[in-house]
Amino acid sequence: MQWISNLTNLTIHIGNTSFENPIWVASGTFGYGTEAPELVDVNQLGAIVTKSITRQPREGNPPPRIVETASGMINSIGLANIGVEKYIKKLLPIYEGLSTKIIMNIAGTDIQEYVEIMEMVESVSSAIAGYEINISCPNVKKGGMEFGVDCEMTAKLTETLRGITERLLIMKLSPNVSDIVSIGLSAENAGADAVSAINTVVGMSINAKTGMSDIFTTYGGLSGPAIKPIGLVAVHKLYQQLTIPIIGIGGIVSGEDAVEYMLAGATAVQVGTANFRDPGISENIIDSLKNILNESNRKVAADLIGTVQTH
Ligand SMILES: Cc1cc2nc3c(=O)[nH]c(=O)nc-3n(C[C@H](O)[C@H](O)[C@H](O)COP(=O)(O)O)c2cc1C
Repeated sequence: MQWISNLTNLTIHIGNTSFENPIWVASGTFGYGTEAPELVDVNQLGAIVTKSITRQPREGNPPPRIVETASGMINSIGLANIGVEKYIKKLLPIYEGLSTKIIMNIAGTDIQEYVEIMEMVESVSSAIAGYEINISCPNVKKGGMEFGVDCEMTAKLTETLRGITERLLIMKLSPNVSDIVSIGLSAENAGADAVSAINTVVGMSINAKTGMSDIFTTYGGLSGPAIKPIGLVAVHKLYQQLTIPIIGIGGIVSGEDAVEYMLAGATAVQVGTANFRDPGISENIIDSLKNILNESNRKVAADLIGTVQTH
């Protein structure tokens, strides 16, 4: 509805980059962003965060690697992806033709792997807006999480990558830690432009009839509406202590959910699991956000950030 969009301002800024709206799609839940152009007008999205990319292609974990749970799902995909060479060759040229912002998510088992991937992408010309660094994947034996649970390793990785790129550098935090704020502060002090929170929450699902664990790797990552309260806490706590923007993730399915995350302190949000039910849901969330702002006479989305009132 054009008349509504004329009245509201959804633009948000992170570092020196502006985004047309704060509704992004989350890594691993929207493929590479190019799969279903007939279902979704991706240029309407604030940004697409692409699936985690590793140096070499990965098959991921054996099945079963997804199970539905109450108000959510558990996955243990294990970073299945095409590898950075194919990403550069096949996908970067396609991204040139999109007007939405592309954030490339990178995963690795050691600092060298993250560095190599980023250097390879930086060495070619491309229009990607920045990187989200996955230091929080609970579903691989080596790497990822080992960085995300340790302040020193988070700082070292952030600082090293900061030296390689001037594009946006977003560190993606894990909720599976005792103190997410200290990890976030380590990323901020080492030069990150933003942090995103949260990745999935470690979970388990068991079939009572067969006595079997439902996921091949026994544990997996819980996502969906079940984790929204955990994501809100993470964003609210990070907002109290950090000065860089926070991107809220976890269980967002509606415009109200997005508003709640922004009130808690998020500058932008990412929609994840909800894409599996409806890949076009983010467009509805953008419309709903406009309506909510309009009805509340708060015309500027960024004015919501961190304004939650507590008792
Ligand atoms: C099937 C699946 C695959 C995912 N793959 C990735 C990934 O490759 N890299 C990453 O950083 N996060 C990955 N995630 C985590 C999501 O990006 C997001 O942080 C998490 O699901 C919480 O958001 P949600 O509750 O809206 O799904 C994945 C999540 C799901 C459900």
